[in-house]
Amino acid sequence: MSTGTESTAAAGLRGVVAAQSKIGDVDGEKGVLIYQGYDIHDLAEHSTFEEVVYLLWNGRLPTQSELDAHTEQLRSNYGIPAQVIELMKQFPKDADPMDVLRTAVSTLDFFDKDGHKTDRESSTRTATRITGQIGTIAAAWDRIRNGKDVVKPDSSLSIAENFLYMLRGERPDAEEARMFDIALILHADHELNASTFTTRVVAGTLAGVYGAITAGIAALAGPLHGGANTAVMKTLLEIGDLSAVDAFVDNALANKQKIMGIGHAVYRTEDPRATWLRKFSKTMAERKGESKWFEMSQRIEQLMYEKKGMYPNVDFYSASTYYLMDIPLDLYTPIFAVSRISGWTGHVLEQYENNKLIRPRAEYIGERGLKYKPISER
Ligand SMILES: CC(C)(COP(=O)(O)OP(=O)(O)OC[C@H]1O[C@@H](n2cnc3c(N)ncnc32)[C@H](O)[C@@H]1OP(=O)(O)O)[C@@H](O)C(=O)NCCC(=O)NCCS
Repeated sequence: MSTGTESTAAAGLRGVVAAQSKIGDVDGEKGVLIYQGYDIHDLAEHSTFEEVVYLLWNGRLPTQSELDAHTEQLRSNYGIPAQVIELMKQFPKDADPMDVLRTAVSTLDFFDKDGHKTDRESSTRTATRITGQIGTIAAAWDRIRNGKDVVKPDSSLSIAENFLYMLRGERPDAEEARMFDIALILHADHELNASTFTTRVVAGTLAGVYGAITAGIAALAGPLHGGANTAVMKTLLEIGDLSAVDAFVDNALANKQKIMGIGHAVYRTEDPRATWLRKFSKTMAERKGESKWFEMSQRIEQLMYEKKGMYPNVDFYSASTYYLMDIPLDLYTPIFAVSRISGWTGHVLEQYENNKLIRPRAEYIGERGLKYKPISER
């Protein structure tokens, strides 16, 4: 579809509305994020991750008995097939956890008789299974690669508590568990971000839920998307000290290098998720008596605002929060997936409900009318 010299293609599809959805909305000018009509601050203050999963899938808050049944369903799905654990034990120990997650989630398909069904009931059952299981995979991989026994999930615990428990072999205390639970709420959905769009494109072909989620995990792994949280902590470690922040930022900007965790494709003001994570980073700094990472982050935030008018995104303060929770750097993005699975599956269910194959056009800018030349004449 060539249109001459003027391009009609929106670079990066910015501003293109590619789906109707009731799941979530981002107002980038005002810095407002809503899930199914509820403001993220309201949910972070009062809800739990399990309840938010229900909300995203069903479009309304549950009654107590609905929430109990939904939570029970999620918890009864924490376990993963022994074959998947055995398979993971064969992977190279230095494999990237996002690659492991992508591969292991894909294999769950073999053990789910509903995996390729796209009716609401079956696909919700599959969504429940993956949402219960994904954290178990991420935590199990960290144990396996470190030569430790895999910790069996505890179905008396919430998804947040259970994840930290399986990772460390010890239950988190109530304050840490609640912070982690809120972090999961904050990452649950974000409208048509790159990975969610990916899941909808795959679901739009009527491929099964596992295919859509596997593709979503692949998209999330990139450093311009979910991979940014790990990159932020690497940057902080590289800078090393508060006194070195100014020079680092100046140098990065002079060399047109991006500071990870800063800027957003939609927000033009404070990302409301960063407001909570900034608070958690500070709380963890106080809990651990180690304020350096929080102070360095604050200074970067201040400089980027002064010099570029840019704000931190969700990944910026989650980095120092997770670091002080003693979570390995390369698990930050898998944790994002442990939460975002709820939004991905919500969008997949929504896509199936009123499906139309997603098939945009490309603006062709190549040549036309060339004639095939035998290889001996080229
Ligand atoms: C998220 C992101 C991809 C948004 O991209 P975008 O809205 O398309 O903005 P662009 O990448 O086109 O950047 C616009 C300008 O701001 C600059 N910029 C954007 N993010 C920047 C950052 N983190 N640090 C320094 N400069 C940045 C770009 O270099 C560009 O400058 P230019 O106009 O002089 O070329 C981008 O801000 C980024 O790469 N941030 C770092 C990675 C990150 O944290 N990702 C997680 C997102 S939740």
